[in-house]
Amino acid sequence: MTQNPADRPNQADPPNEPVLSDGRLQLERVNEGHAEALTAAVQVSLTELAPFMPWASDDYDLSHSMEFINSPAAAHAFALIDPAAPVTDAGTANVAGVLGINDPSERDRFADIGWWLRTDVTGQGLATVGAQLVANYGFDQLGLHRIEIFMSVENPASRAIAERLGASYEGLLRGRLQLQGRAHDAHLYAMLATDDLPWRS
Ligand SMILES: CC(C)(COP(=O)(O)OP(=O)(O)OC[C@H]1O[C@@H](n2cnc3c(N)ncnc32)[C@H](O)[C@@H]1OP(=O)(O)O)[C@@H](O)C(=O)NCCC(=O)NCCS
Repeated sequence: MTQNPADRPNQADPPNEPVLSDGRLQLERVNEGHAEALTAAVQVSLTELAPFMPWASDDYDLSHSMEFINSPAAAHAFALIDPAAPVTDAGTANVAGVLGINDPSERDRFADIGWWLRTDVTGQGLATVGAQLVANYGFDQLGLHRIEIFMSVENPASRAIAERLGASYEGLLRGRLQLQGRAHDAHLYAMLATDDLPWRS
C-alpha cells in the first residue's frame, strides 16, 4: 500500500523541504537549523503566547525547541521566515512564527491547523497568508478533505484569522481547551477541500 504522506515523519525529506511560498512569504518545514531563532522568537513573545499556547513556559529555552522539532508534532509544522529580516546575524533563518497541520487522520482525511507569531510581526497579515499556504499544503500535499480551526473564546485575534480565511463557523465546543489550569470553551471553524475559498491553489 502506498504510504499516506500524512504519516510520513519529518526526517524523510531534506531538512527544509517542502518550502511553501507565495513569492513574498516563505515557510520552511521546521528543522534543527531553526532552533535558535525559534527559541528567541518564543522568548520575546511569552507574554502573548503564554495565555494560549500551553508549552510557552517562562523557562522556555533551546531544549524545548529541539524537543518540539524532533517530535511527531512537528511533522507538518512550518517556520515562517521573517520577510523583513530573513537571516539572523549568525546567518541562519530568522523565524517569525510557526504554523502547522496537527494530528492528520488518514482514515477520515481531516486535521487541525494552528499558528503563532513573534509579537513584533503581528498586525501585518503574516499569519493569515501563512495559514493559506499551510492549508493548501494540507489539502493538496496531505490529501486532507477537512481542516479544523479551533480557538479559545478568549482569543479574538486567532478567531479573526479563521474569519479572514473564509472558514465556516460550526459552533461552540464546551470546555475543549485547558489553558493555564482552566477549561476554556472554544469556537470551531472548518474548511473543506471542496469549499470555494479565494486563496485555494
Ligand atoms: C493569533 C495571532 C497569530 C494573530 O496574529 P495577527 O497579527 O493578528 O494575525 P495576522 O498576521 O493575520 O495579521 C492580521 C492583521 O493584519 C492585517 N492585514 C494586513 N495585510 C493583510 C493581508 N494581506 N491579509 C490579511 N490580513 C492582513 C489585518 O487586517 C489584521 O489587522 P488588525 O490586527 O488591525 O485587525 C497572534 O495574535 C498570536 O501569535 N497570538 C498568540 C498565539 C495564539 O493565540 N495562537 C493561536 C492559538 S488558537
